[in-house]
Amino acid sequence: MSTESEVAAGSGAERSVRNHEPEIATGSRAERNVRLGQRLAARVARAEGDVPPPPVQGTLRRTIGLTMEAEGCEAPVGGRCDVVALDGRRIETEVVGFAGERLYLMPVGEMRGIVPNARVVPVAAVRDVRVGDELLGRVLDGSGNPIDDGPALCCTERVPLFGAPINPLKRRPIDEPLDVGVRSINALLPLGRGQRLGLFAGSGVGKSQLLGMMTRYTDADVIVVGLIGERGREVKEFVDLALGAEGLSRSVVVATPADDTPLMRMQGAWLSCAVAEYFRNQGKHVLLLMDSLTRFAQAQREIALAIGEPPATKGYPPSVFARLPQLVERAGNGAAGQGSITGIYTVLAEGDDQNDPVVDASRAILDGHVVLARELADTGLYPAVDVESSVSRAMQAIAGHEQKELITRFRQVYSTYRQNLDLIAVGAYQKGSDARVDEAVALWPRIIEFLRQRQDESVDYDSSVAALAELLNRPANPGGTPAADGDGS
Ligand SMILES: Nc1ncnc2c1ncn2[C@@H]1O[C@H](COP(=O)(O)OP(=O)(O)O)[C@@H](O)[C@H]1O
Ligand SMILES: [Mg+2]
Repeated sequence: MSTESEVAAGSGAERSVRNHEPEIATGSRAERNVRLGQRLAARVARAEGDVPPPPVQGTLRRTIGLTMEAEGCEAPVGGRCDVVALDGRRIETEVVGFAGERLYLMPVGEMRGIVPNARVVPVAAVRDVRVGDELLGRVLDGSGNPIDDGPALCCTERVPLFGAPINPLKRRPIDEPLDVGVRSINALLPLGRGQRLGLFAGSGVGKSQLLGMMTRYTDADVIVVGLIGERGREVKEFVDLALGAEGLSRSVVVATPADDTPLMRMQGAWLSCAVAEYFRNQGKHVLLLMDSLTRFAQAQREIALAIGEPPATKGYPPSVFARLPQLVERAGNGAAGQGSITGIYTVLAEGDDQNDPVVDASRAILDGHVVLARELADTGLYPAVDVESSVSRAMQAIAGHEQKELITRFRQVYSTYRQNLDLIAVGAYQKGSDARVDEAVALWPRIIEFLRQRQDESVDYDSSVAALAELLNRPANPGGTPAADGDGS
């Protein structure tokens, strides 16, 4: 135990504490000593650097394409630096890498006006997003600023752009079916709440249109749409036609079209996730649509190649395949008491190549994929769902026993017809030579009608399953004309 005289004879720091903070002299000696200890600890912490030093400003040395190289300042990867343009404007950039003393920066927006030796000012800002119910019905850019004609946003809450992932053991399992309003998907590829689904197809096969249908008809409290790297024209189309006024009122749209910088496009994707997480944490069931995951991967490819990461598969550097699961894992069911994020991501199968590296990687990390086939779309069959190649991994947990049997039977009939298509089409198939083929031929026109659905028509889950049961259980019309409404081969 120290005595009064020992404290008085202590270091200069202790004496000054006594001199400037006389309230220490009150209370019992033991209490005074405790308080003195606390104050000293607080001072040591402050002196040791809890207060950040002022940022050291650097200089811009070089730019190549969208990459800028700065010297003389320090900032962490993922941190922000402002580059001061000739006219004094501050151009926001992100640190995407470094080499030795050099920082590699990329602009989030426009980089016009940057001059040699421009000042580079590290900004100690936390990357967060303003959120609130005011976001519903609004269209935002990748920075979260409204681009519609609505009033300014006055959200007071903030959430991190890169939210903390949910402990995988705490996630609720996927066990509740989700009605998406599309007959073929409800009946044959049933989705569950919290599932992450890929929509795979080449360009112009109807991904965005099907996404629009699912947006209108899916049973969800909040819809968050990330339009990442697609044509600017599509943003307005999606908002006006796919969502409509009613749909928009429960939606938040984040649009970062193809002419945005790669960082902005990626930020748009993260922002969509952050907004979806905000609503999920309030217990809401959120539908998160991202069009497209491929453009997100391409944005990361642009950034990685620009700073010198070597390309691996088809020009995609390895970091792309690290980023994809980070994005997709942010959807899914929350912990107990939270809501869910059902994620639907479109994936462009370039040249209808199902072995494209992004297609491959997405197939591995998603809980299912719906493949749209160009040959079906070419015959005017929309939505052009290729039932044979599509899989819903949540089906086992969601569909009832009866529905699973119907699905198996449908797949058998469907693939029997497709396998014998060449024979049937040229008229070489002799009726009666195989009972299974006879059944498939007789059912085919009705299968096509089952798959076809107008865009303005919604079919709920129970009606979808009932239609499937009706299709398979009603005796096939024996006089059915084979291939009367075939798939056009
Ligand atoms: N359900 C549908 N009904 C009629 N036409 C459709 C349908 N889905 C797609 N299409 C046609 O296909 C075109 C391309 O569709 P889109 O969804 O933009 O393709 P993607 O997003 O795959 O590039 C549309 O402009 C439209 O003409
Ligand atoms: Mg599209």
